Amino acid sequence: MCGIVGYIGKRDAYDVLIQGLHRLEYRGYDSAGIALGRADGSMSVYKSRGKVADLEASVAGKDIEGTIGIAHTRWATHGEPNDVNAHPHVSQSKAIALVHNGTIENYAVLKKAIEQHGYKFVSETDTDVLVQLIDYVKQTNGCTLFDAVKEALRQVEGAYAIAVMEKGKPDMLVAARKSSPLVIGIGKGETFIASDATPIVGYTDKVVYLKDNEIALVKRGRTVEIESLTDGSPSKLDIKTLRMSVEQLKKGGYDTFMLKEIFEQPETLTDCIRGRITDDCRRIVLSGVIENKERFVHANRIVIVACGTSWHAALIGKRVIQEMCGISVEVEYASEFRYSSPFITKDDVVIAISQSGETADTLAAIQLARSKGAFVYGICNVVGASIPRSTDSGTYIHVGPEIGVASTKAFTGQVTVLTLLALCVGQMRGTVEEATVERIAQELKNMPIYIKEVLRLDDQIKNLSKIYTYARNFLYLGRGYNYPTALEGALKLKEISYIHAEGYPAAEMKHGPIALVDSEMPTVVIAPTDSLYDKIISNVRQVKARGGTVVAIITKGNDAIKEIADHCLEVPDVPECLTPLVVSVPLQLLAYYIAINKDRNVDQPRNLAKSVTVE
Ligand code: F6R
Repeated sequence: MCGIVGYIGKRDAYDVLIQGLHRLEYRGYDSAGIALGRADGSMSVYKSRGKVADLEASVAGKDIEGTIGIAHTRWATHGEPNDVNAHPHVSQSKAIALVHNGTIENYAVLKKAIEQHGYKFVSETDTDVLVQLIDYVKQTNGCTLFDAVKEALRQVEGAYAIAVMEKGKPDMLVAARKSSPLVIGIGKGETFIASDATPIVGYTDKVVYLKDNEIALVKRGRTVEIESLTDGSPSKLDIKTLRMSVEQLKKGGYDTFMLKEIFEQPETLTDCIRGRITDDCRRIVLSGVIENKERFVHANRIVIVACGTSWHAALIGKRVIQEMCGISVEVEYASEFRYSSPFITKDDVVIAISQSGETADTLAAIQLARSKGAFVYGICNVVGASIPRSTDSGTYIHVGPEIGVASTKAFTGQVTVLTLLALCVGQMRGTVEEATVERIAQELKNMPIYIKEVLRLDDQIKNLSKIYTYARNFLYLGRGYNYPTALEGALKLKEISYIHAEGYPAAEMKHGPIALVDSEMPTVVIAPTDSLYDKIISNVRQVKARGGTVVAIITKGNDAIKEIADHCLEVPDVPECLTPLVVSVPLQLLAYYIAINKDRNVDQPRNLAKSVTVE
């Protein structure tokens, strides 16, 4: 959570930083702020509660000159979202400004210690403590900003990505990280600092991913110097080339990023599958799996750790891996796994799924699993993020930047990669029939066509959404492969419309939730014609018998269910393990249009952030 940007070069820093903040706004949007430095040594700091647009409005007419600066968009952890708690935080001496993403765990102890030296705190944030500590160290030791930051960070426990600037020193920025991400963009005579690569795209494609416990000194017009915070040794600049275009970061004619991302799925799934299925559909080529064949073939069991939507994808993964590979799979919330004394051995394979690649709980789960000797495999979207760099191997889903806070195309990408992984491992273990691999691989290749067909339901779903916009509770039911999609459908509705929704395995309904059913509460039933179809139909009848209304997602041509359900959305007939892909798109659209009807900000729903880098 929280996004930070820094710039030093020849351009107007304000423009680069504001654009960067807009691109990072998915990381938090409670408040925003900017500090700008000028050649004469002066520094201005502007902060505002609310979104980046509110910050822009608040600085209208003010001095925004300067070719160096740092900026921040916040997801509040310590202290309510207001102007005072917004970053950048400025030291009591007014000489140092700092932006921070992360949490300083020992801030209370540090605060008490610095207060004894006469420091007063105006904000309620943990970050305030860090900037005052740096100021104190600098003044006491009479050292440079770089050395003061280094010394202060030695006293800090917790997670941080920071960018720091000093009044009167318009040619230098300092950046450092531990557990929170930080990327440095190396342009021609200009340097960028950012929480992810998106603010850098369009200026340069050369980036360095700062490693944990590294600090960087960025000097105007010169290259970047990086050293280890642990032992002060210099680090080599490991420059990587970005493969991201400015176009990918725009709405491309859609009203919102979320709608664009829903409609992009035929293309994102094409990208996700590209090069991973042979032309004859007889082999699955997931290099990370093939290179680690022994680990997967001899795995005792597989444990999948993830959060939120990625956890829902994991539940689908469990089913498909068990079916294709004959191996026991457990799925754990990363946040629970990390504190559960899990029984993990070196013979286990742990799969970590994360769109952002930065989720704090998932990262901690990985570290725990690795410390117990397990082989850890990552399934991530953001290239170069912390999770893919902390796993033994992995597969990128390659669906492009997901900017809408509610995950859509990443979910279908994750399910696709998990299916490919199941087929690939199943082939290596000899547990899946060749004909099955061929049939599913062929249908995966056809998936972009199927998704295009599902997207034609757009108008029907838009109309349907009007009927249900004012419902106060929803129930989502599914079975087998589509119990997780019921959970995901309910989550999508909750997070963007703020309507309460619960997902349930359909048969569990009669053990409690059925008491909620009445004419006021719609039930969305995911009922493709699969091996559990007959079972779920009886659940639909149970809802109808109690006066409930039913929206059913069904396989095209199944006319029988139309007699029972109130509304039906028809999706193409695909193999059972692929039904989550075709049913999730109408669920995304239904949640989307209900939220739009309620005038919600679907790209930036309240209280949420895209990248959850705190516990
Ligand atoms: C829901 C959503 C979240 C994320 C969760 C994990 O739409 O986006 O539930 O799925 O925060 O994030 P990642 O996948 O980045 O680890």
